[in-house]
Amino acid sequence: NENSLILSFETSCDETSVAVIKNGKEILSNIVATQIKSHQRFGGVVPEVASRHHIEQITICLNDALQKAGVTYSDLTGVAITYGPGLVGSLLVGITAAKVVAWAHQLPLIPVNHIAGHIYATNFDHPIEFPALALVVSGGHTELVWMPKEGEFKIIGETRDDAAGETYDKIGRVLGINYPAGPQVDQMAHLGHDTFAFPRAMEKNDNFDFSFSGLKSAFINTVHHADQINATLDKNDLATSFQQAVIDVLVSKAMRALDKYPAKEFILAGGVAANRGLRERLDQELEKRDVEFVKAPLKLCGDNAAMIGAAAEMLQRHGAKADMSLNANPGLEF
Ligand code: KG4
Ligand code: ZN
Repeated sequence: NENSLILSFETSCDETSVAVIKNGKEILSNIVATQIKSHQRFGGVVPEVASRHHIEQITICLNDALQKAGVTYSDLTGVAITYGPGLVGSLLVGITAAKVVAWAHQLPLIPVNHIAGHIYATNFDHPIEFPALALVVSGGHTELVWMPKEGEFKIIGETRDDAAGETYDKIGRVLGINYPAGPQVDQMAHLGHDTFAFPRAMEKNDNFDFSFSGLKSAFINTVHHADQINATLDKNDLATSFQQAVIDVLVSKAMRALDKYPAKEFILAGGVAANRGLRERLDQELEKRDVEFVKAPLKLCGDNAAMIGAAAEMLQRHGAKADMSLNANPGLEF
């Protein structure tokens, strides 16, 4: 059979990315232009700023991706695009670029769910085995996704308020850490002690949902209260205690989900999947179970177009296609 060669676009949040993926598992190129610096002074992603950056970067990334892969438009077999969930203005830039290429070169347009993309970041080293259960944790999402077989996705649990990564970014702000705070809080967490009793919301509830806003408030109140009475708190201890609370909830919910959904493979993906503490703790817990633990490679945890191309190859085999009427779907589920 013919090789699949997919050009993929990802612009759902604050990274502009274009990749070329061969047969769903070989990365020929994966260009990622990050906008982090532009959003840092606002302490988070500003949607209008993000859209403008995408517009400036998209054709540069496109040309780089083709050149680095050593391919031309006539070699391609499809164009993949993230159409949700994400920021509407950001999504629309990628969708427009993908449509232009697909239309001009008469290529099929493959719509991809961003969460499916994060999960397929694990598909490069070895193909996903089903049934699989995925924990997708990022700046915008905290979801447990059940995949009984290839092409089927069901969200069995999600956050009711803040996403895990968003919580890292917000508590990081009161510690004086630049956006995105996750990586630095993770490092600090390895230097301190678990001395603050932060809440573990819904840990014992009989569902697979999460809630992090209570933890965020408890953390911020603790720091503000100390400021008021001129007390100095150990920032590393704060980070350790916070991270421990996040990991306890994520891991206990994931283990309970595995009890009910007997997966062959457990997948950890999304920006927060880079968290060292979370990876280590899941290593320990999953060793006790008859399940294979597959972590997204560190380089592909954050947003990138390679993961979108990998998911697109699978989706295309299952008949996914879109036409020029494709629109952004900011709240897309599955
Ligand atoms: O997947 P991603 O690049 O973008 C979204 O789709 O949201 O995730 C970015 C998020 C940010 O909130 C960042 O703080 C968090 O992932 N993050 C981490 C770590 N590395 C990135 N959170 C905790 N520990 C880390 N090591
Ligand atoms: Zn993401």
